[in-house]
Amino acid sequence: MKIETFALERWMTRWETVVRYDLAESGIKPMTVDELLTLAGRDAALERMLGISLGYSEARGTVELRGLLAALYRDVTPDEILVTTGAIEANFLLFNVLLNPGDHIIVVDPAYQQLQSVPKAIGCDVSLWKLRPENDFRYDLDELEALVNVRTRLIVINTPHNPTGSVLTPVEQERVFAIAERVGAHVMGDEAYRWLTLPGREPFAGPVRDLGERGISVGTLSKPFGLPGLRIGWIAATPEIVRACWSQRDYISLSPGKLNDYLATLAIQQREAIFARTQKIASENLATLEQWIHEREDLVSWVPSRGGLLGLLRYDIDVPSMELADRLASEASVMLAPGAAFGYEHFLRIGIGGDPAVFREGLGRAASVLEAARSEVGPA
Ligand SMILES: Cc1ncc(COP(=O)(O)O)c(C=O)c1O
Repeated sequence: MKIETFALERWMTRWETVVRYDLAESGIKPMTVDELLTLAGRDAALERMLGISLGYSEARGTVELRGLLAALYRDVTPDEILVTTGAIEANFLLFNVLLNPGDHIIVVDPAYQQLQSVPKAIGCDVSLWKLRPENDFRYDLDELEALVNVRTRLIVINTPHNPTGSVLTPVEQERVFAIAERVGAHVMGDEAYRWLTLPGREPFAGPVRDLGERGISVGTLSKPFGLPGLRIGWIAATPEIVRACWSQRDYISLSPGKLNDYLATLAIQQREAIFARTQKIASENLATLEQWIHEREDLVSWVPSRGGLLGLLRYDIDVPSMELADRLASEASVMLAPGAAFGYEHFLRIGIGGDPAVFREGLGRAASVLEAARSEVGPA
């Protein structure tokens, strides 16, 4: 498969090991193994971990883990779950199973690039469902109605959304599902940011899998759990789709790592405590960010994120986002992701999941660079 370069990943790898203030990170401050074991009852959990024999694991993920994951949905059995190497493998398998060259599909835009680049590489006819700044990055259901046709095989949504923090409400998501059902298409929900509610925001839609057979949910421990290093994600879909994805996976990664599978079971069991940790970090950073924007409204503005951990900052400076992001990284050791990586100029993507002290300090340093850039080149 010939595929275009993953623009954001390339930009991130250039800076992420050298900057001190990574405000571009898309997840929550990662947990340590020690923190996770302590939540689960350290001595017993450690003893069980040390006794694990490191043979190949169950290909679909252990039945224990799949059972715990299945219980996160309505009426889903362990056979309707496939544990994958992160949400990224789940998405990749699903596209390869569900799509053929020439199929029409609809994908949210802007988007986590994989959601558009893989279907394009397969040879699909990809229509973009735009979240526009002039519409406060809301999903416009009438626009979806206009994009869908009898050839549409798949609608790909992502709620809460990377990079805008937009969400679908439960009613809106039901309408997406009804539109797909009308033409016999599936709805694939990249739910990497599930559970990540923000203080004072309206509730957003639950898993699309719960709406019916044509709903497919992708989940991960990377964002809400702060465990991206475990590389554990999953697919919740019908047994037929899960089996087909499993067949593809036989050629790629075969099975999850055994230690990771075990630590994932602990994480799911301890999720309420983990989400409390996540909420605490995200709400503290959100308050810091809102104050920071308020203090420089002529320079930076945003559509407040409605869920998840990400948002787009619009800056009023006459400089392309890639250049500005490089300057922030090299002069202030601050990473904010360039909007250009999502096809949006004069925006920087910010993540509110980092360590609160680092986040606050990073914003202060970013402000100095933004102010200097504006006085040099003027407003956009
Ligand atoms: C929307 C979205 N989907 C999928 C992924 C991949 O996540 P994972 O670490 O589970 O592979 C990401 C990571 O940033 C993401 O933002």
